[in-house]
Amino acid sequence: MIIKIENLSYVYNPESPFETKALDNINLEIENGDFVGLIGHTGSGKSTLVQHLNGLIRPTRGKIIIDGLDITAKETKLRTVRQEVGLVFQYPEYQLFEETVYKDIAFGPRNLGLDEGEIDSRVKKAMELVGLDFENMRDRSPFELSGGQKRRVAIAGVVAMEPKVLILDEPTAGLDPKGRDEILGEIQNLYKKEGITIILVSHSMEDIAKLVNKIVVMSGGQIAMEGTPREVFKNGKELEKLGLGIPQVTDFMRKFKSKGNPVSDDILTIGEAKVELLKYLRRKDNA
Ligand SMILES: Nc1ncnc2c1ncn2[C@@H]1O[C@H](COP(=O)(O)OP(=O)(O)OP(=O)(O)O)[C@@H](O)[C@H]1O
Ligand SMILES: [Mg+2]
Repeated sequence: MIIKIENLSYVYNPESPFETKALDNINLEIENGDFVGLIGHTGSGKSTLVQHLNGLIRPTRGKIIIDGLDITAKETKLRTVRQEVGLVFQYPEYQLFEETVYKDIAFGPRNLGLDEGEIDSRVKKAMELVGLDFENMRDRSPFELSGGQKRRVAIAGVVAMEPKVLILDEPTAGLDPKGRDEILGEIQNLYKKEGITIILVSHSMEDIAKLVNKIVVMSGGQIAMEGTPREVFKNGKELEKLGLGIPQVTDFMRKFKSKGNPVSDDILTIGEAKVELLKYLRRKDNA
């Protein structure tokens, strides 16, 4: 197991009129190599939770162990935590600040005190993994890039730290459909090639169903549900109560079945639906 969260609670602005309990006794375990989808209504505590995982926020109560290291202990250095866990923020382009793409991505590895050769190879590899052409892009200013490219530079900067756990908080928010698909494809590629543990915060049930092997559903600072996509998306009614949906194609197949058509209602992706509908049509042709 790579992450163990025990009795984690967090209160913003304690003992003030603005006191908000954002996390309420979270217990969660994530296995090495998991691809976790973190979903939940706006304000449910997703960003607060993931900011705890790389030490950006210290818990009000509770403990977080990552790869055997108690990252919430006073003596644990933030620098060690950042090497273990990389966090790409919601709208990460606001974090870009260097004059060139190369310098921006090299910033983290340089702070680790690595030598130039190692920095160079990490920048190249990270750029390749997120689909940025090294020769064409290295000397460009991050500020003149498109939204999707800026997003890639920010992701590459975290990937170049070679963390064991990569967390992406809404990495496709605000991108057009093509940009979204490309970035998600690159994240999937990264997962397959590098075998790292990934936590993806997303509002898109389609993206979650397509990519992850485990879903964690948050509501009001607590974990409301946990399981494989198949297990979680079976509870359509409960998800609806939490202000969440199921993938459109799952919903469609359930409605199609409820009209008396003998198809599976356990469908999560367009690909699965295609196979199931072709089987159905063939049976119908033969009948
Ligand atoms: N900096 C802050 N100061 C005070 N309260 C905050 C702060 N950030 C978040 N909160 C509150 O903590 C709770 C959890 O917020 P959080 O941002 O973690 O939710 P979220 O699930 O990431 O939401 P979204 O889907 O909108 O990104 C909310 O009630 C929010 O208003
Ligand atoms: Mg958030």
